[in-house]
Amino acid sequence: MNNVCLKPSYLNKLGVCYYSNARKVPPPPQNEKQKKMREEFWKREQILESKVDYTQLTEIDKLIHEAHKTAVSDYHFTYDDPETGLKVITRLRHFLKGSCCGNACRHCVYDHENVDKERREKRIFNSAFWVDKHQVDEEDEDRKMSGEYNVSAADLDRFMEAILALVQETGLIIANAIGTQGNVEIDEKEENIGDGNASAILTETDLKVEKHLINGLKSKFPEHQFIGEESGGSGAELGNAPTWIIDPIDGTMNFVHANPLVCTSVGLTVNKKLVLGVVHCPLIDKTYTAIKGKGAFCNGKRIKTSKVKEMGKAMMIMELPVGANQDKKDIAVANLKYIMDNAHSVRCPGPAAMDIAWVAAGSADGYFHQGIHSWDMAGGTIIVKEAGGAVIDTSGGDFDLMSRGVIVAASQELALQISKFIQVYPSPRDQPTHVNPF
Ligand code: IPD
Repeated sequence: MNNVCLKPSYLNKLGVCYYSNARKVPPPPQNEKQKKMREEFWKREQILESKVDYTQLTEIDKLIHEAHKTAVSDYHFTYDDPETGLKVITRLRHFLKGSCCGNACRHCVYDHENVDKERREKRIFNSAFWVDKHQVDEEDEDRKMSGEYNVSAADLDRFMEAILALVQETGLIIANAIGTQGNVEIDEKEENIGDGNASAILTETDLKVEKHLINGLKSKFPEHQFIGEESGGSGAELGNAPTWIIDPIDGTMNFVHANPLVCTSVGLTVNKKLVLGVVHCPLIDKTYTAIKGKGAFCNGKRIKTSKVKEMGKAMMIMELPVGANQDKKDIAVANLKYIMDNAHSVRCPGPAAMDIAWVAAGSADGYFHQGIHSWDMAGGTIIVKEAGGAVIDTSGGDFDLMSRGVIVAASQELALQISKFIQVYPSPRDQPTHVNPF
C-alpha cells in the first residue's frame, strides 16, 4: 500500500486523502459541504464515544480503542490492530458508505447486517470483528466508493491472452469467408449513408465474428461490458466497468471486394481509460497489440513510430469518402489537395484501425479520419500511444473517443501540423460527454 495520495480525485467527500498512512495534519475543508460532512461525522463519533464503558475494557482493548481514534482523527479508512497486526476498517469508511460493508469490522455500527453467520460467531471485541489484512485494500475501497474499478497487471495479461485466442479463431472465420458467397451485404446502415459507402455496409460475417468475440469474452469475464459496432454500438454509454469496444470486421468494404486489408479491432477501457488494444489482420498475418505502460508490439516484436516531425517528410494516410454527402466530399478533396502540395506521400488504403496501427509501427507517419466511431479507434489508438506516437482530436485538442474523429501521428509535432491544416467535418457524437481515454 502506497503512503501517498496519488490523484486529486481521491480527495474524498470530506476533502482529505483516505489512504495516506503517515500521520499529518488533515487539510481544512475546502467547501461548506465538506465542512458539514466532517461536523456530522464528529457528532456521531462523540455519541459512540460516550457509550464506551472504559471500566469494561482490558489494556489491549484500550489500545485498540486508541488506535481507532487516532486513525479517524487523521481521516483514515483503516488502522493496524495492536492486538493482531491485522488491518481493521474504521467507522469513517462506514460513515461514508452509510451501511455495513460486510467485512465484519470491529467498529461496525450497523450491527453487521451484511455479515454471514459464521463470521458473526467469530466475534472478538465489543460486538465487533476484524478482517485479514489482505481483505482490505484502501485504494480499492476508495475506487469502489467512487464507482471506479481496479484491475491488476495480471488481470490485463489474462484479458490479453483471452482476446488474442479469440481473434485467432475469428481470423479463420474471416479468412474462410472472404471472397465467397458469405460476403454478400445483408444490410445497409442507413444512419451512416451520409458518411460514405465504406461506413454503410454490413455482412453476415461481421455479425458472426462480433457474436463469437462477445460470447467468448462474456463466458470468461461475465461482469464486463461491450460496445460492438454491430450490436447497437453508437447508442451504448461508456461507463467505468471494464468495457470491450469491438469492430469485428474493420474494412467491410475491403472484405466484400476480397481485398486482404481487413482487421478486427478491439480496445478495452477501465474507468473509461484504454488499457489494452488489439488490431488483428488475419489475411496479412499481422497482429498489433498493446497493454498500457508495456509498449506496443506487432506479432510479438516491439514497434515504435517513425518519429517523423515534418509534413514534408511524412507518408500520410487518409480516406476518400466515396458516396458521402457533398460537404464531406468537398472537405476531403481540400484536405487531400493540401497533403498533395505539402507531404512526402499519401496513401488511402483503409480500414481505419489498420491505418492507425501502421502509424504505430512506423509504416506510415500521419493519419486522420472524420466520421469514424469508437470501435474503429479504440484498439489502434492505445497501440500508437504505446509506440510513442501522438493521438489528438481533429481540432488539435485532447483526443475524445466519442467524438467521431482522430489524428494520429508519429510525433506530437506532426499531429499538431495536421490539426492546423485539416478542414473539420462535423459529425454527430457517439456520446454527449467528452471521453479522453488516456
Ligand atoms: C469503416 C472503415 C473505413 C472507414 C469507415 C468505417 P467498417 O469501418 O474503418 O476505413 O472509412 O468510416 O466505418 O464499417 O468497415 O467496420
